[in-house]
Amino acid sequence: MFSWLKKHKIPQTPLRKTVPKTLHFDDMEAKTLLEDIKQEFGLDYEKQKYTTLRKIERFAIKNEIATFKELENSIKTSKELKKQLLNMLTVGETYFYRELGHLKILAKYTQSHNIKNILCAPSSSGEEVYSILIYLKEAGKQEVKVTGIDLNSDVIAAAQKGCYSERSLSLLPTELRLKYFIKDKEHYCIDASFKHVANFYHQNIFDDSFLQLGDFEVIFCRNMLIYFNDAQKKKALANIHAILPSGGILFTGHADISFVPDGFSKEISDCGSYLIKK
Ligand SMILES: C[S@@+](CC[C@H](N)C(=O)[O-])C[C@H]1O[C@@H](n2cnc3c(N)ncnc32)[C@H](O)[C@@H]1O
Repeated sequence: MFSWLKKHKIPQTPLRKTVPKTLHFDDMEAKTLLEDIKQEFGLDYEKQKYTTLRKIERFAIKNEIATFKELENSIKTSKELKKQLLNMLTVGETYFYRELGHLKILAKYTQSHNIKNILCAPSSSGEEVYSILIYLKEAGKQEVKVTGIDLNSDVIAAAQKGCYSERSLSLLPTELRLKYFIKDKEHYCIDASFKHVANFYHQNIFDDSFLQLGDFEVIFCRNMLIYFNDAQKKKALANIHAILPSGGILFTGHADISFVPDGFSKEISDCGSYLIKK
């Protein structure tokens, strides 16, 4: 029959794999998966396990993976799929001029301190890095470099490109949009002059190579620690402590930590709180 199809040039439809419309991991599979993610990527999703598992189930179906075993094997054998899974899990919300109080504190601090290098760990797609540069430029402070790092390679590529949606800029005053962005049909692209003072690296905060990034007088570590368990928070904060000089400032997101980490003291101002390395 197939030779007949060939003869008459009727294309053969490849045998289609049956992929279910829904997939549900049982308790044992879910436990193994969350443990694997913790071991492999250092991400602890115990507190958000139901939403995380649903996301992974949708990811599996989208990639035509029908069972837990198949997912496990595919991740082991395909680096690309593993990267896509990590990027899907870690993509997080971020936008320009988020938690603006910290930028006000920073601008004030730069009046009495010679700040040259600032780190955003994590930077996600760059909104925080460019917000700092715009805010400081508006405050009259020009010669600062801001480095962004993130575990997610897709967001680092987006940060390097520097083009953003209307939504991402919704808190940015119109005059700053006009001054610092070029608008195409759909996106606002950051002025090229910022590309010389903004650097982005694909980097895990837990890796030893994080400690080689250099010294930064100010570090922003906002809206990431919330996803870590206490041991991971302490480890990440110890790594930050190691690359911050004495007197250096650390900004964390308001929901990130509920304790003052070792080696820091807490300062409270009208614009928000921050940590100073002892
Ligand atoms: C919600 S975004 C925060 C971005 C920005 N700091 C802000 O406050 O808007 C959280 C980011 O943390 C990143 N992340 C998670 N674990 C990480 C790790 N171990 N090392 C570096 N980045 C990590 C994720 O990839 C994600 O882009």
